[in-house]
Amino acid sequence: MNRNELIRALPKAELHVHIEGTFEPELMFAIAQRNQIEIPYKSVEEVKQAYNFHNLQSFLDIYYAGAAVLIYEQDFYDLAWAYFEKCAEDNVVHTEMFFDPQTHTDRGVAFATVINGLQRACDDAREKLNISSHLIMCFLRHLTEEAAFETLAQALPYKDQIIGVGLDSSEVGHPPEKFERVFAKAREAGFLIVAHAGEEGPAEYVWQALDLLKVNRIDHGVRSEEDSKLLERLIAEKMPLTVCPLSNLKLCVVDDMVQHNIQRLLQQGVHVTVNSDDPSYFGGYMNDNFFAIAEALDLSHAELKQLAQNSFEASFISDTEKQKWTEQIAALN
Ligand code: HPA
Ligand code: ZN
Repeated sequence: MNRNELIRALPKAELHVHIEGTFEPELMFAIAQRNQIEIPYKSVEEVKQAYNFHNLQSFLDIYYAGAAVLIYEQDFYDLAWAYFEKCAEDNVVHTEMFFDPQTHTDRGVAFATVINGLQRACDDAREKLNISSHLIMCFLRHLTEEAAFETLAQALPYKDQIIGVGLDSSEVGHPPEKFERVFAKAREAGFLIVAHAGEEGPAEYVWQALDLLKVNRIDHGVRSEEDSKLLERLIAEKMPLTVCPLSNLKLCVVDDMVQHNIQRLLQQGVHVTVNSDDPSYFGGYMNDNFFAIAEALDLSHAELKQLAQNSFEASFISDTEKQKWTEQIAALN
């Protein structure tokens, strides 16, 4: 098998994808029209032209504006279903997707509307596409601790449908320590914990995510490389980093894919995985991310298999499931 054939053939788990970031312009237009909501674009081309971000905040402004057309349960279903169809194309057999309840509840959409639409898509994906999934709810870090506590309370009746709690949105100026208490409460309630850290923010935010939030995984974490003590800790603890190469390129976390540190991190023994983050905004889904780094960094077959293997090891599926995927990956050449 050549390299791209191997990438397509590998079963993969996606551990860092924001469901609101999978919103393709065509679907955005269709939902805006049926909900009779004005959007500031006349065509799909105009939407794509607006995607000229150069940092996290300029992306987030457009991402939140797009999400504002989502109102009904069916809208959330359609959004997630379209993503599952992409997973099927890319041989993503398991996904742990983020959703941002506050982006919707702050506009008057009920928490139940969001979770019921997403859950129905997850159930259909399991049944019709044989794709398993978990939902991870993220707090928006630019909002207050109090707002995060309210969101956690709203999530408790749905505890069985939400495997974990994460932290996203504008990183710099909103360190993990701002949310230490609400994450303690989430842990007590039995949620697994993840947090975006070390994307635009410094290595110090990764330390805080580890020590104060007590995360099970770090989302992004690529700036950990700036701190050798931190790297040692990540390696010793086998702490997963959910790395998003095309996102890093689009938001100028790296200037050029040939400079991306995912291969260096992998070779040093950091538990890195490949993910798409916000694929409709950043130029590609799972396999596009693999193709981009494989080409730019000349990744070997063994490295590609290790990345796919890491995605299952770092996931929240059972050991039996992990074993099954490990065997399938090992059998590929
Ligand atoms: N970083 C922070 N917040 C986000 C992102 C991201 O890459 N995508 C969606 N919300
Ligand atoms: Zn993200």
